[in-house]
Amino acid sequence: MKISIVGAGRVGTSIAYSLLHRKIANEIVIIDKNYEKAYGEALDLYHGTSLLKRCNIYAGNFQDLKNSDIVIITAGAAQKVGETRLDLTKRNYEIIKEISKEIKKCANESIIINVTNPVDVLTYFLWKELDFPKNKVIGTGTILDTARFRALVSKQCGVSPASVHAYIVGEHGDSELMVWSSATIGGVNIKDFCKVCNRKNCRNLRDIFEETKNAAYTIIEKKGATNFAIGVVTAQLVESIFKDEKKVLTPSTYIDGIFIGFPAIVGKNGIERIIPIEMDEFEISLFENSKNIIRKQIEEIEL
Ligand code: 2OP
Repeated sequence: MKISIVGAGRVGTSIAYSLLHRKIANEIVIIDKNYEKAYGEALDLYHGTSLLKRCNIYAGNFQDLKNSDIVIITAGAAQKVGETRLDLTKRNYEIIKEISKEIKKCANESIIINVTNPVDVLTYFLWKELDFPKNKVIGTGTILDTARFRALVSKQCGVSPASVHAYIVGEHGDSELMVWSSATIGGVNIKDFCKVCNRKNCRNLRDIFEETKNAAYTIIEKKGATNFAIGVVTAQLVESIFKDEKKVLTPSTYIDGIFIGFPAIVGKNGIERIIPIEMDEFEISLFENSKNIIRKQIEEIEL
């Protein structure tokens, strides 16, 4: 398993670090416009392999994308205090366009995972520029948001996050939504869970969703960026592909002409199938609104 990571910033290196702990890659190449930074990060990570799994980690250039099973893109400007993810579109679009040219030259058999924000808009442009099959271009979408929500619910309800089946879908951003109608905790519909649970003085689960949606703003305000959870989330996505686990995640995937976060089975072929979860009318309208926001951003670039 060879993985290439484009971007040696906090997100790229956190992904590499999480991948090491999953013990799935034999080779990880880190590519950055600042080669020295990539070199230092790769060396630091490499030293940890002696206690984890033998893995050749090194800094490379775009030619090293060759023979990658998976290429992960994290390069680009990150959100700063006061910015939304959509504020990054123009800046990061140019970067994504350049990277696609390099991928086309050396890695046109690879599965591509995009992490760079705004992830839905840029995954669409990656797919367009690359002209790869839709299943092989994947954005991290709302996998992180879904993970955040499950973690917070798990804490409040005292139940394992693995028993919280709840999906956040839509734009990885301000218009995302929680699909309450099909969410369950231990098989009980999430809306009824509080009635059957004997805990007292709990927060409303809708407040937990709001906290989830705003999590990146909170973390960016406190520490300047988010990196650890996205590292774990991306490594889990890679593992589901590598081991053909067929996990249902919420990657950014092709729906109605755009890329947007929605439940899908992820296996050795990338996105294998979209899961048509039940949504009520209100949720459908929110999802449509989210699609329109992504569409508008795409149109502004395409103009
Ligand atoms: C996050 O949600 C900023 O998209 C990044 O952590």
